Amino acid sequence: MAEHHEMTKTTLKDFLYATLGGLFAPLIAIILIVMLVIGVQGRMGQDDSAPVSDKAVRDRIKPFGHSVAVDPNAPKVERTGEQVYSEVCSGCHGSGALGSPKFKDAGAWGKRNGQGYSTLLDHALKGFNKMPARGGDPDLTDMEVARGIVYMTNAAGGNFSPALKKDPEPSAADLARGKAVYAANCASCHDTGVTGAQKLTDAKAWAPLVKLGKDALYEAAIKGSFGGPARGGNEKLSDGDAKAAVDYMVDQAKAAISAADKAAAAKAPAKPAAK
Ligand code: HEC
Ligand code: HEC
Repeated sequence: MAEHHEMTKTTLKDFLYATLGGLFAPLIAIILIVMLVIGVQGRMGQDDSAPVSDKAVRDRIKPFGHSVAVDPNAPKVERTGEQVYSEVCSGCHGSGALGSPKFKDAGAWGKRNGQGYSTLLDHALKGFNKMPARGGDPDLTDMEVARGIVYMTNAAGGNFSPALKKDPEPSAADLARGKAVYAANCASCHDTGVTGAQKLTDAKAWAPLVKLGKDALYEAAIKGSFGGPARGGNEKLSDGDAKAAVDYMVDQAKAAISAADKAAAAKAPAKPAAK
């Protein structure tokens, strides 16, 4: 009895569903297809008609040109030295807690800086007495720790650049050789800044390059960078000579940078005290 009742009662419902489904399902499909076609045409129209400005093209290709400048191991959201310092290191180094060398205290940092960058890096990565490994934050990447160190040490008279492998300091003989290679192969552009080459005395242009570390610059010099020819255009130049030229350039650039820093410091002596 229940079955029989159900059959007769649902006939109207079934009919309605079938009608609605039959009408609307194709209608919806048609609407979707029309929207798709309109969308495709709209996009095609844009690409065809809008003149793409020269700048837009340059902007679009720029990232490729600068690829040598990017650390391929760097995660997307690497923090800067200042961020690492204020988020992690300042917990102790801001106040000198636990006997840590205090931020901007050149006296406290002087002897430590004197140990050299690679010792500082080693101690900060692995821990050193009461200094916890990575400042106690295991999520910091090696590069972030390196940047934190450089931010602190350079604020207290150091002159380091963050790199993971230590950049061996070139000897006076290396620099002399680099200078000769530079004069013969690189000076034509980098002395004057012609073709957009970073002028050797341009502290602003070199500061970010020096921060990349030598490996990136060696690679740029040997393989070429956006606008910078491989081996300065002299294909006979050995890797060693190209690197020596870079050593010399970085040495000169660092001198220009620290001179500019000193000039800026003299202009604005009252820097806000670190918290
Ligand atoms: C929990 C406190 C604490 C935090 C957080 C901390 N440090 Fe330290 N740090 C110390 C102490 C204490 C020392 C001194 C250790 C000693 O010389 O015995 C020190 C020393 C150092 C040194 C000098 C090592 C040497 O060889 O003289 C460096 C470099 C350093 N810290 C980097 C960092 C960095 C980078 C961070 C943040 C990522 C950080 N620290 C966070 C406590 C801390
Ligand atoms: C024909 C001109 C020219 C010569 C010669 C030249 N460079 Fe460059 N170099 C450039 C230009 C242009 C750039 C800027 C590239 C850019 O904007 O990234 C550059 C950039 C660089 C950079 C910075 C890397 C970067 O990503 O910007 C280094 C390092 C460098 N050159 C090293 C050398 C060395 C070493 C020599 C000699 C062996 C040399 N260059 C010779 C034009 C030159």
